Amino acid sequence: MCGIVGYVGGNRSVEVLLGGLRRLEYRGYDSAGIAVIGADGDLGLRKHAGKLQVLVDDVEANPVQDGPTGIGHTRWATHGGPTDANAHPHLGDDGRLALIHNGIIENFAELKAELLTAHPETVFTSETDSEVAAHLVGYAFRETGDVTEALRRVVAQLHGAFTLLVLHRDQPGVVVGARRNSPLVIGLGDGENFLGSDVAAFVEYTRRALAIGQDQVVTITAESVSVTDFEGNPVETEEFEVTWDASAAEKGGWSSFMAKEISEQPEAVANTLLGRVADGAVHIPELDGFDNTLRGVERVVILGCGTAAYAGMIGKYAIEKWAKIPVEVDLSHEFRYREPVIDDRTLVISISQSGETMDTLMAVKYAIEAGAKTISICNTQGATIARESDAVIYTHAGPEVAVASTKALVAQVTAIYLFGLHLAGLRGTLSAEEAFVLLTELQAVPEKLATVLEQHAEIRELAHWMSDTRSVLFLGRHVGYPVALEGALKLKELAYIHAEGFAAGELKHGPIALIEPGQPVFVIVPSPRGKESLHPKVVSNIQEIRARGARVLAIAEAGDAAVLPYADKVFTIPLASTFFEPLLAFAPLQIFAMELAAAKGLDVDQPRNLAKSVTVE
Ligand code: AGP
Ligand code: GLU
Repeated sequence: MCGIVGYVGGNRSVEVLLGGLRRLEYRGYDSAGIAVIGADGDLGLRKHAGKLQVLVDDVEANPVQDGPTGIGHTRWATHGGPTDANAHPHLGDDGRLALIHNGIIENFAELKAELLTAHPETVFTSETDSEVAAHLVGYAFRETGDVTEALRRVVAQLHGAFTLLVLHRDQPGVVVGARRNSPLVIGLGDGENFLGSDVAAFVEYTRRALAIGQDQVVTITAESVSVTDFEGNPVETEEFEVTWDASAAEKGGWSSFMAKEISEQPEAVANTLLGRVADGAVHIPELDGFDNTLRGVERVVILGCGTAAYAGMIGKYAIEKWAKIPVEVDLSHEFRYREPVIDDRTLVISISQSGETMDTLMAVKYAIEAGAKTISICNTQGATIARESDAVIYTHAGPEVAVASTKALVAQVTAIYLFGLHLAGLRGTLSAEEAFVLLTELQAVPEKLATVLEQHAEIRELAHWMSDTRSVLFLGRHVGYPVALEGALKLKELAYIHAEGFAAGELKHGPIALIEPGQPVFVIVPSPRGKESLHPKVVSNIQEIRARGARVLAIAEAGDAAVLPYADKVFTIPLASTFFEPLLAFAPLQIFAMELAAAKGLDVDQPRNLAKSVTVE
């Protein structure tokens, strides 16, 4: 969950670590800390509860001696509250060693008991699971005299998920990392090397990166990088180039990352289409060589969590309609533990912006063990889920920093539509003309979405006016249903307001009892055009809630006159057929939630209790 950065190079660890942590802070932000082996060989430690700024201010007021070797951490607490003592790095070997940890060490209590029996003099200063690893590596170092060897011994005893970075003042110029089920990438510089939870940690300094696999240990010095498995056998690594630059991960004049990322949505869709449409047909180069496998698939299961799961729900409607194959969607954490029936004729598609969500990773691993074929839709190059899957379709939304997912979602829907069209082509369930019409409409989304964003000021006005609202409901049907769920999720996570999304048809089966005079209800209204349109049914639903006093806030197609008499406010989206409406309808709901949170004075980018990348189950 946390952000991790490690550095060996010139005498500028403090700058590199704090800069890296700033770009990683979205991953966890309840405490932060750094440890640096100073040029004089001392180990300097600063760590604090609270946002990164608290640490930055302290380092400014009480500088640590800078040096060539350091590690930094931004925490999302799992064991022990966000306090100075629980913040990382944790010390071992009588303060000579520092360790940071991302993840959960499941057997930490047993290990701690064993350690206290063997070394009763050990003093624990935190409630974290991580500190036990610091002491264990410390004792192992006393025997081995080498951090890599010491860490290797300790990881063999750990259960759970971890990325660990360690340095020791008796071995300056070396940072060692190890990973199991938590992320870690290497940045290759000139006379300096980096470690990070993701490339944002070091993109300011280098675009050359190495992805490392599960259960591997990496040792960096200023001039060298060596990677082995947990037993010490050398392993092959894969170099890749980071395709976005540091400025893509900066706010660039926007009030928040979220505002910036909402504005980047047309581009996110366009970039995800880039290179995947040729001669009016879909061609996904990443799936070359995978077509025979896809032809043998009899059903599809889509997995994800939160917003990514809603992208999956939309994907289900599209893939079933276009490729005529049964599709199931499940929340990754529910799928994994209900013993789902899957086999080698099942295609499991995982959707994850970060590519590190532990629930989804575990579900994908379960599917692989059951023999399923796997594709991931992922926004982060080299991420674990992408690497575990048979094939990956990257979304090209660029770095998404705000905790609330926005541009990644539209890119995910775009990618799953491309996949649906590709599968339909393979299965012969859509003619080339039908596919062409759909693809043309998909290509028109970026331009249409840009016009939706022009209503920002109007939406802000409504959000400010509603800033005291205590409950908001969202209704939608068909692909509008996941849009309603997403609208509610955004409002909950950003503005801490009770919000529920319902399938509009479900209303009369219970939720309509919630409607009382003045209750605000957003309704995602389908296009009135097309013979299968659900428009009349949704308009009836609107009338039902209006009759009970609801305040109706509609998102409807421009020119939809049937809605006007029953809506208190209408935000319009350009003409689009059913499947393309969600790509246009998310934005007003995202803006609404963001502006309402801002009106309440809340931190839009880093909402309470959340983290960008949920790397614990
Ligand atoms: C959305 O705004 C969220 N904060 C959250 O639901 C997120 O989509 C979910 O945790 C999945 O993350 P992933 O896409 O990185 O797997
Ligand atoms: N489990 C550790 C803790 O609670 C690490 C949490 C993290 O990944 O930030 O300190």
